[in-house]
Order: sequence, then structure tokens, then C-alpha cells
Amino acid sequence: MLKKDFPIFTKHPDLIYLDSAATTLKPQSVIDAINDYYINYSSNSHRGIYDLAEKTTEKVEEVRIKIADFLGSKIEEVAFTPGATTGLNILYYGYLKNVPKNSRVVVLESEHNSNLLPLMKWCKEFSLKLEIVKLKNSVEEIEENLIAFLDNQTVLLALNFDSNVMPLNLNFERIIQVARGLNIKVFLDACQTLAHKQIDVKKLKIDALAFSAHKLYGPTGIGAIYINENLISLLDPLIVGGGIVEDVQESEVKYYTGIKKFEAGTLNMAGIFGFGACIDYLLKIGYKSIVKQEKSLAKKLILEFEKLEFIETYPKFLKENSLFAFNVKGVHPHDAAMILNEDNVCIRASQHCTHLLHERLKINASLRVSFGVYSTKKDIDCLIDSLKKVNKYFNSIDG
Ligand code: ALA
Repeated sequence: MLKKDFPIFTKHPDLIYLDSAATTLKPQSVIDAINDYYINYSSNSHRGIYDLAEKTTEKVEEVRIKIADFLGSKIEEVAFTPGATTGLNILYYGYLKNVPKNSRVVVLESEHNSNLLPLMKWCKEFSLKLEIVKLKNSVEEIEENLIAFLDNQTVLLALNFDSNVMPLNLNFERIIQVARGLNIKVFLDACQTLAHKQIDVKKLKIDALAFSAHKLYGPTGIGAIYINENLISLLDPLIVGGGIVEDVQESEVKYYTGIKKFEAGTLNMAGIFGFGACIDYLLKIGYKSIVKQEKSLAKKLILEFEKLEFIETYPKFLKENSLFAFNVKGVHPHDAAMILNEDNVCIRASQHCTHLLHERLKINASLRVSFGVYSTKKDIDCLIDSLKKVNKYFNSIDG
């Protein structure tokens, strides 16, 4: 029972938290690591030359090594960011600024706004053509359609590794192989992936990746980007300021040439300490056991949903994933969420920052259940009981 690792359950023993795709809860070890920074370090990294500041720098660099090991990258290929959205903006601005005008960038319409909106903004800014590929009825058709958009005018394929609403389980090995054959860079947003499965950036042969710690049981306000070493020099920093320069003259600024040029300003050091602790926590549990538990929870949820004729799921036939989008037929998700809230059941109800996907599904909004390592079958029972209440309240004549 991993609930005991998460102090929020001591404060709120009745909490049914099924919104881990929005943010995961934080284990005590992560909270302790954040406190450790404030209590025992509290100084600024990469600046001071006194012992305390140097100890902080050492600890920050230890976490960078941990992240590089976690992703299978080199240490010099990892930069800290305030989160995935900033990370993706850094990647897209940096790369797209220097590609030829009218080049093509390819993305799927199911993308999270954190991936889609930076692409829209920077493609417009640099006069590039953004191809938003429409979803089809099957994963195979989606893959074929996506691949058909890749050509020698395309400079970037930029995708969520996993959707935050409707997991597609795309065959990335195949898609990336095609992209690489055409010399197209592949950047991935791994926010919804790394709490559930490993990504080895070298084996997968991707050029860049962004993710945040708060979806991995870590703190908010901290994330990381991986950029392949061959690409770093081609990317200009989006955010400039202290800590990334070799020299400043009135007429010229000499920025660092390595990965640290993307880390302007004081780093979120408390966040970085917590980031290191969340990776330790995740790896201590291990992906094997995470996947096993998620599969068994998913199996149960799918079986329960199949019994309820008032539930409509997206897609219609669910696969064993860590998150599920659905609606109670005839009930606005906000109304449903209000009743669920009365039973302490926390799930997300909105468009989940995927407006285009909801338009494609022809629905205004949806409910979403997502699992974390603390999720249990009892949580699913509570959810189902509460959904029955929602249906009774809104859909029966005597409700
Ligand atoms: N991206 C987060 C979600 O999907 C906030 O809920």
C-alpha cells in the first residue's frame, strides 16, 4: 500500500485521488528533499565560491546526472527548466528560429496545448507551415496519415509521447525511423509518459524531449529538457539573463555554447532537490511494478465501465492504460464532477487543454480518470458508486 508514502492521505484519509495526469501527489521523501534544501543548503548554485554555495552546486549537478541516467542521455544534454511548457517553448523557439522559411512542422490534432500552442506561435513568428494532422479511426490509420505528411520540406515532427486524454499507443520506433530517413528532427513531450514507462532517448533516437517533475511525484515549477549534443549549438536561448554568459560588452554578449545557455536566472534549487528525490522514488518502485498495478486497475475500470450503459468512453473501446476519458451520457462533466466532489472523488472535468481533440470527438468537454502509484481498486469502487449517483441524480425521472 503506497498510500502511506503520501502524507496527504494522513490529512485527508477519505481522499479518492484519480487525477494524477494533472499532477501526482508528493511522497514524504520528495517533501523532505525540498526541506533539506531550505534547511541545510539555502544558497545559490553556480555562483558563490564559499562552501555552502559550492555544496548546493554539487547537489544540483548530482540531480542533473540522475536525470541523464534516467533518460539514457549524456549529462551535457540535460538542462533544468521551470516545467514542460517552458521547456517546449525553449526547444521550439531555439530550433525553429534557424530553419528555412516555409519549412513544414508536423504535429497531431490530439496534442496538449503545451505542445500545440508553442508550435503555433513559433511557426507563425518564423513563417513556417504547421501541419496539424487529423486523427483517423484506428491507430494504424493515424500512423499512416502522420507518416504521409513527412517529406523533405519537413524540419520537425513534434509529438506528445502519450496523450493526456486519449492514449494512442503509437509505434514511435517506426514513426521515428521514417522521420530520421528524411532528416526530420523529432522532439517529444514526455509529460504523460515518464511516470508510467521508461524512455531511453538514445535508443529511441530522438533529438529533444521535455518533461516536468510534478507528474512524476516531484515538485511543481521544475522540469528538464534533453537536447541531443549535435543540436545544442544550433539552438538560440529563448530566455536570457544571468548565469549563461561568458562575457558581456555593450556591443556584444558571449553566451555559453553548451546546454547551460538554456538555464538563465537563479535555478529552482529546492525544486531540483525534490526532482532528484522523485526519480529515486519512482525507480525504487520500478516501472515493472507500476505497469503491473496500472494494468490490473485498468482491467477493473474497463470491466466496470462496460457494465454501465450510461457511460460513454473516448475511444469507444478502451485499452489498458493509465488514464481514461469519458462522460456520463446527457450530463455536463462539470455537473458530474460536482457530485463526485461531494464523495471526495477527484477527477478532471474539462477539455484538459486539448480543445482540438474535443472538437474532433464532437464533445464540449469530458471527465478523465488517471492513476498514480497510490491508486487502488477501492478507489475505483468509490468512483463507480459516485458515477451511479450522478446518473441517478441527473438522468432518472425520480432522481
Ligand atoms: N496537463 C495536465 C492535465 O492533462 C494539467 O491535466
